[in-house]
Formats: sequence, C-alpha cells, structure tokens
Amino acid sequence: MVLTEKDFFPKNYPAEISSGKVSASAPSNIALVKYWGKYGEQFPKNASISFTLNNCKTETTLHFEEKILTEKEFDFSVFFEGKENLAFELKIRQFFERIVQYVPFLKEYSFRIETENTFPHSSGIASSASGMAALALCLMKIEKQLLPEMSEEFFLQKASFLARLGSGSACRSIYDGLVVWGKHPEIPNSSNLYGTKYSKEVHEIFHQFCDVILLVDGGQKKVSSSVGHALMNDHPFAEARFLQAENNLTSLQEILKSGDLTKFIERVESEALSLHAMMMTAKPYFLLIKPNTLKIIEKIWEFREQTGLHLCFTLDAGAN
Ligand code: PMV
Repeated sequence: MVLTEKDFFPKNYPAEISSGKVSASAPSNIALVKYWGKYGEQFPKNASISFTLNNCKTETTLHFEEKILTEKEFDFSVFFEGKENLAFELKIRQFFERIVQYVPFLKEYSFRIETENTFPHSSGIASSASGMAALALCLMKIEKQLLPEMSEEFFLQKASFLARLGSGSACRSIYDGLVVWGKHPEIPNSSNLYGTKYSKEVHEIFHQFCDVILLVDGGQKKVSSSVGHALMNDHPFAEARFLQAENNLTSLQEILKSGDLTKFIERVESEALSLHAMMMTAKPYFLLIKPNTLKIIEKIWEFREQTGLHLCFTLDAGAN
C-alpha cells in the first residue's frame, strides 16, 4: 500500500511507559542509480536504487526515561564509540526538530544515545545512512511499545520515512537487498516519502553480489552531501542529470532481470562518474575523488580487460 504523509502522524498513544532501553542495528547501502539533488523536506529529484550492505553497520542503543525538571525541548546526549560527540548531537537535534511532529514522544523523554560503527564515518561511505536508519529503528521500537498494535509493514515504512528526514539515502537502509527510493513510473509502490524493497524479478547472479570498500581516504570529506545536493539547485546540467537517472533506472530493471553483467557494469560505472561530473561542474566546482581513486578505477578497467571478469566500481559522495 502506498502511504501519504498524513499516515505518519501518530494517533493517541494508548500505552504509557516511564523508561526503557531499545537497540537497533542498520547497515549502510551503496546506490547503483544515485540520488543527487533534492527539494522540500528531503524529497529526491530523481528515483534511486541501492544494494544494502551486510557488514558496514551502525549499532545504536537508546536509553529513555520520562523527562523531569528541564525546559529543554529535546533532552538528550550522544555517545559515539563511548565518547560524548557534539557534532553528532547537532545533527541529531536537527533530525529531532524535523521528525517531532511524527514522533511527539521525543519531547516527553530524556534520551541517552549510544552508537558505534563498524566502519569510518563522514568519509563518503554512507555512514549517515546507517546511523540515521539505526536511530529511526530505535525510535520506532519505542513507538511500537506505545502503540503495540502497529503492523510490521507500517513499522518499517515509518522507520524508512523518519530515516529519510535524517539523511535521504538512509531510508534505503531499512530493508535488505535492492531498495528503491523515489517515485518512478515503472516501479509499483515507489514513493518519494520512503524506500521500498525492489519487488520485480532479479536474476540469481545478483543474489550474492559482493561489495568491497577500498578506503582511499578515511578522513572527513571537504564538502558534505547536504552542500552537494544544494549545488544541484541551479546546476546547468541538473535537468539532464535527473532524466539520465530516471532512464538508467528504467533500463536497469531489464538488466537486473536478465543478469547481463556487461550492461550492469556500464550503467553502474556511468552513474558513479556522472555523480562526480555533477560535482566537477557545479558552481562552485569541487572534487571528492583523489588521485588513488582514479588509479584504482584504471586498474579495475585493466583487470577487466585482461581477465574478462565482471569486476566494476561505483562511488558514493567521497573518494572511496
Ligand atoms: O543521503 P545523503 O544526503 O547523504 O546523500 C547521499 C548521496 C549519494 O550517496 C551520493 C547517492 C545515494 O543515492 O546514496
């Protein structure tokens, strides 16, 4: 069922809980057709599709207890890998401000958020996707305690809806396998509000597909995704790019069905390079790839030519 925004406003909470603890883990994902450019409250300018990864995860625990004696709208602290983290606190405050209308219990409790990753954060391997998805799942676990009759399907849809408001690509990290986010005319149930599992036929060759992350640069990137998305607003090639992404998602469906790896590689690599071409032609222009990123790409092409094996690359908004 396709839901609308009003379906995510909560009804009255029948249950009352004074304190508790919930935990959730969410993986990162890597887009095959990329989302780059957004409008309104985190709606994508084009539909995207990703593979959810198995091993790059964020694990989050949320302790909560009824708020007492504080004027603060949101009372919470964030501990990343055991240490209080003010940068994440800022991001999470913005996230809470955006989602409080859908999860009003955020104002009722004091929270302690403990979170850790199995991989580096803020370096362009979608740690915000797994981070926001894990936090959204924790919040939905609290809401499920307050509204015990909630269906599993709605639990996941609303987790994805909330995660999107934290970081767009995070809405795809709620499900495993291939996940679509953004309305696409040929993908039933696809929505700009949340991610959905790709339900069309997929060739078995993609069931065990393997992603390896080559860490070219583990440092924090110079231009954040939010800035990059914003630069698409008056980008000279924006409309052509959105159309290209839509067409790539159209043709990828046949490729996913047939298992044609040559065509798969062509689309996926072209998407990665198109994403970075948008960065290089933005005003102001910027580069996130590094010399070693290019060396690796050339080695992959050389290897493919020599062996005929279907090794390919993709890139997120980063050098890795
Ligand atoms: O979700 P954000 O705002 O971090 O943007 C992510 C954009 C890309 O990773 C480059 C592409 C994508 O679809 O994941």
